[in-house]
Amino acid sequence: MMSTDSAAIENRNKYETIRDRVVGDYLRKTPGSAQLHQQARTVLAGGVSGNLRYFSPYPLYTKSALGSRMTDVDGNDYIDSFSANGPLLLGHNHPALVEAVQASQELGALPLNPAIMVECAGLVQEIVPCAERVRFLNTGTEAVMTAVRIARAFTGKPGIVKFHGHYHGQDDQFLIGIDSSDALFSAGVAPEAPASIHLCRYLDLEQLESLLQGNGEIAAVIMDPAMHAGGLWGSDGEKLAALRQLTQQYGVLLIFDEVISGCRLAPGGAQQQFGVTPDMVTMAKALAAGEKLALVAGSREIMSVVDPLAEEGTPRVFQSGTVNDGPAALASACAALRTYRQLYQQGDYQRLEHRTGQIGQTLQEVFRSAGIACQVNHLASMLQIHLGGNELNFETAQGHDTQLLELFYLALINEGVMLSLPTSNHIYFSFAHSEQDFEIISNKIGEVFTRYGFDSLGNN
Ligand SMILES: Cc1ncc(COP(=O)(O)O)c(C=O)c1O
Repeated sequence: MMSTDSAAIENRNKYETIRDRVVGDYLRKTPGSAQLHQQARTVLAGGVSGNLRYFSPYPLYTKSALGSRMTDVDGNDYIDSFSANGPLLLGHNHPALVEAVQASQELGALPLNPAIMVECAGLVQEIVPCAERVRFLNTGTEAVMTAVRIARAFTGKPGIVKFHGHYHGQDDQFLIGIDSSDALFSAGVAPEAPASIHLCRYLDLEQLESLLQGNGEIAAVIMDPAMHAGGLWGSDGEKLAALRQLTQQYGVLLIFDEVISGCRLAPGGAQQQFGVTPDMVTMAKALAAGEKLALVAGSREIMSVVDPLAEEGTPRVFQSGTVNDGPAALASACAALRTYRQLYQQGDYQRLEHRTGQIGQTLQEVFRSAGIACQVNHLASMLQIHLGGNELNFETAQGHDTQLLELFYLALINEGVMLSLPTSNHIYFSFAHSEQDFEIISNKIGEVFTRYGFDSLGNN
């Protein structure tokens, strides 16, 4: 019998052989991306416009995209289920969106108060339960910044409760507690920036209650109902209802950050899906299905703090943004929201969730049957893979080695399946994925496993 040390060395050697083969194939297949990355690095820091877009040895660069497919600069086709990290719930270049954006061009780029803004806010009001009044912005980060400013002004209190494992955008005050620690998530964040953010274990209502009991200066609790950044641990209707009840009991606002879950769990997001209505919501990503649009919305009373016509004595919140209401983004959102509503009525949300779950099961089975402990989290049309255990939770899933997973995603890219970017582990299926796409993905998962020898790495 081999000692633990020699087994570890043998596994390391096997891993390195697999890595060399996977990376070697990637280098052979993507010389155009390699060259463009070299050039990109001379003009863009790291050759990309956001840290998440980079993966090793260099990222792909795209030439064109349509429906569920994208083509890189070398002419390789991929089934894309990274979906731009979420927004592309209708795939690339959905015809209804393209038509709507083209029709909006007669308005020019930024006319004053385009009428389509009113139409879009009306649709949001019809679809999203808590959205009595809306303000549009560009990104999820801005929407969250604005939501908490409104909440603080409305309540006259500074404190915000944030759960561990939740990401709420790149505003300094929220770059804390992204994992299960209290550490700042980035260099360059002023240590005092998160001073009024109070961290709480995810949906630990006891801890939350004692926090609310001991601190009368809390304006709001903010949460991502998908718990996406921390590993897609989701939430259920019962917990959300209890959270709703608790926040009401303590007179604290509840903000659902539905940048991920909005439009994806249901057209009206988690609040529609679980029947729990928060005081405020933030949305972005799938809202305009690829165009730049975000929103913050809430009750008429709360949103009155940004209403110039509000009665005297109402706190006045500054809310602005030069490109908040671009007609192309608003037109895209109108078309997307109408399409989501129709797909939901036709039962397509359920079908997509079912198909996504099947891919999740395939992934889990393939890893586990090779003796590699694995748990795949599934919520609506999203998946995330966790290696290192079969019954993990947010805390126990922390700190596992992700190298093997990154290699697995890169191997799938070699086979024409961009299931996720290797470094992100974010899988988002879309309504553009056909039955055939799902079959190809399912088959490629198994093929890649045996072709590259991932199945030799487990304990079997
Ligand atoms: C829950 C949540 N809130 C806010 C944001 C920030 O959105 P954006 O990247 O559009 O600024 C994200 C981004 O992933 C998110 O997942």
